[in-house]
Amino acid sequence: MKIYILNGPNLNMLGIREPDTYGRETFKDLEERLLQYSKEKGFDAVLFQSNHEGALVDKIQEAYFEKADGIVINPGAYTHTSIALLDAVKAVSIPTVEVHISDVTKREEFRQTSYIGLAAVKRIVGHGTDGYFEAIDFLLCSEE
Ligand code: DQA
Repeated sequence: MKIYILNGPNLNMLGIREPDTYGRETFKDLEERLLQYSKEKGFDAVLFQSNHEGALVDKIQEAYFEKADGIVINPGAYTHTSIALLDAVKAVSIPTVEVHISDVTKREEFRQTSYIGLAAVKRIVGHGTDGYFEAIDFLLCSEE
């Protein structure tokens, strides 16, 4: 089982950016926890973060060619703007879970649109960084 865990713009600033909204855990600590979890649960985790839309599209396509079984993605602000990411997820037909650390449903109007949500099999919002682990569990369960 191979899972791509992708993070979009500004998520590398976790722990620094708006801690009241996104918490105090650093991005490095989150990635270490995710790698640890992959060892415990016995799946291959491919971790990738980029501030660039095209780089995220490239990684979603790579997931297809590398025969990934699932994608967990927090596209950050590209959630609300990127048809390219939506098309990429549709193109690869890999079960994709959309994660948001904050509860975007209770935030600004411009965060109420999610393009990627139109292709995601599940959406986890507002569970902090635990949402990534819930997303992984969901993908692991659906593979069984
Ligand atoms: C976010 C929510 C987005 O609206 C925002 O642009 C982010 C982070 C979240 O994890 O809560 O960068 O995806």
